[in-house]
Amino acid sequence: MAILVTGGAGYIGSHTVIELLNQGEEVIVIDNLKTGHKQAVAGGAFYEGNLRDTSFLERVFRENGIEAVIHFAASSLVGESVQQPLPYYENNLMASHNLVSTMLEHNVKKIVFSSTAATYGEPKQIPILEEDSTNPTSPYGETKLAMEKMFRWCDQAYGLKSVSLRYFNAAGAHPDGMIGEDHNPESHLIPIILQVALGQREAIGVFGDDYPTEDGTCIRDYIHVMDLANAHWLALKSLRENGASNVFNLGNGKGFSVKEVIETARNVTGHSIPEKISPRRAGDPALLIASSEKAQTALGWKPKYNDLRTIIETAWNWHKENPDGFLGKK
Ligand code: UFG
Repeated sequence: MAILVTGGAGYIGSHTVIELLNQGEEVIVIDNLKTGHKQAVAGGAFYEGNLRDTSFLERVFRENGIEAVIHFAASSLVGESVQQPLPYYENNLMASHNLVSTMLEHNVKKIVFSSTAATYGEPKQIPILEEDSTNPTSPYGETKLAMEKMFRWCDQAYGLKSVSLRYFNAAGAHPDGMIGEDHNPESHLIPIILQVALGQREAIGVFGDDYPTEDGTCIRDYIHVMDLANAHWLALKSLRENGASNVFNLGNGKGFSVKEVIETARNVTGHSIPEKISPRRAGDPALLIASSEKAQTALGWKPKYNDLRTIIETAWNWHKENPDGFLGKK
C-alpha cells in the first residue's frame, strides 16, 4: 500500500518524500507544479494535476492502493492571502474537501496534514501550546484552521483519523544539497538573506526594528525542513499504531530575531550581507515560539538540526550550489 503525498513537489513536501522513501515507503506524489518543482521529487510515482479536479483524484485512487495521505498541497503565503482571499478558500478548503471525499469513497481513513503556526494569530503567551486560542489574522491561517476542524468533524462522523502538524518557520535544505527552498517570488527571510550573499540582491530589508523585542526585530522559531519531514513520518506511524487524531506544534522552542539570523548568515557565508531597515510588514507578530513538547512526548520526535547555524549552513549549501534553484538543475 502506498502513501499519497499531495504537494509533494513543494518545499516541505519534497523533503518529506525523501524521508518516506528512506523509510522504505511506497510513495505516490500529486502536484500541479504551480509552485512545486518536478525535479524536487526524488522518487515514487508522479501525477501532475489539481485536487479540485475530482475525476483526476478519482483516477489516482483507482490506479493505486493508497493506505494514507500526507496533505501539503495548498496556497501558502500569508500576505497574498490577505490581498486575494478567494483563491485560498478554493485551493485550500475546496481542494481538501474533494480530497477527503475521495479518500472516504475509497475507504482511506488516515491523513497527516500540513498546518501552520498561522492558525494561532497573535499569541497570548510564549511558548505557544496546542490548546492556546486560535485566532488567525489571515485567510491563509483561517483556511488551514478550517481544514483542521473539517478533519476533526470527519473523524466524529466517518472515522477519518488526522494528525495536523502546525509548523513554525520551516528553513534549511536537505543536507546532501540535492533539494532545497525555491519559491518564485521568494518572500522568506533566510533564502532572501542568502540571495544577498550570492550577489543576487543588494541588501536585506529588515521589516521593522521597533518591535518590543531586545533588538527591535521580530523573533521566530526556525525549524529544519528535514526535522519537519521526519515528524510527518512519525505522525503516520502514530496513525498506524494508535489511530488517534491529534494536533502538534513543530518548532525548536528557541527564538531568533531577524538581526540574529542575518548575523549568523554573515558568519556562515563570510559575506557582509548589507541590511536596510524597512517599514513593518502588515500582520507580522513580534514573537512566535513553539512549545513542541507534545510532539516530542507523543510522537517521540526529536529535532536533529536544532541550532540556527546548522540550519543556515544546509540552506547555504543548497543556494550556493544552485543559485538559480531548480531552473538551473538538469
Ligand atoms: N523578514 C524580513 N525581511 C524579509 C523577509 C522577512 O525582515 O525580506 C522578517 C519577517 O518580518 C518575519 C521574519 O523575517 O519577522 C520571518 O519571515 P518569513 O517571511 O520568513 O516567515 P513568516 O514568519 O512570515 O512566515 C512563516 C511561514 C508561514 C506561516 C507563518 C506563521 O512561512 O507559512 O510563519 O506566522 F504562516
